[in-house]
Amino acid sequence: MGAKRVPVFACLITAPAVSAWAAAAAAATGEEVYRRTCAACHASGAAGAPKFGDKQAWSKLIKESQATLTADGYVGIRAMPPKGGDPNLGLEDFAKAVAYMARAAGADWKDPDAAAMKRIAAAVERAQARAAKATKK
Ligand code: HEC
Repeated sequence: MGAKRVPVFACLITAPAVSAWAAAAAAATGEEVYRRTCAACHASGAAGAPKFGDKQAWSKLIKESQATLTADGYVGIRAMPPKGGDPNLGLEDFAKAVAYMARAAGADWKDPDAAAMKRIAAAVERAQARAAKATKK
C-alpha cells in the first residue's frame, strides 16, 4: 500500500550503541568470563587443561553432571586453580563459563537457572568439605 517510507537508518545507527550499552550493564556472559579468565589455560590446553572445543578431552567431563563438574572446577582440582585463579569470580559467572566451554565441546548445557544454581551450590559445599578433609593431616 502507499505507506510512507520510514527512515530506518536512524534505528540502524542507534540500535547497536544501545545494545552494547545494555550488554555492558548486564552480568558477564559465559563467553566473556571464559575470554577474561579461563582462556589463559583452556585455549591452549596449558598445564593439561581440557582444551576449548576439544570434544575428546571434554566428553568424560561432560558425562559428570553439570553441578559436579562446575563445583569441582570452582573449588579447584589438581592443576585447575580455584575459581580459575580469580578470587573475585562469583559462582554464577564461573558456572556460565563452564557451560559455555561444555557447549563448545558439544554438550547441551544451559546457563544455570535458579534451580540449577542451587544444585551447583550444594555440590560446591560437598567439594569444599572433601577438599578440607584432604588437606587436614
Ligand atoms: C592456570 C590455568 C587455568 C585457568 C586460568 C583455568 N583453568 Fe580450568 N583447568 C586447568 C587445568 C590444568 C585443568 C585440568 C585439571 C586436571 O584434571 O588435572 C582444568 C580443568 C577444568 C575443569 C574440569 C574439572 C574436572 O573436574 O576435571 C573445568 C570445569 C574448568 N577447568 C573450568 C575452568 C573455568 C570455568 C575457568 C575460568 C573461570 C578455568 N577453568 C580457568 C587450568 C586452568
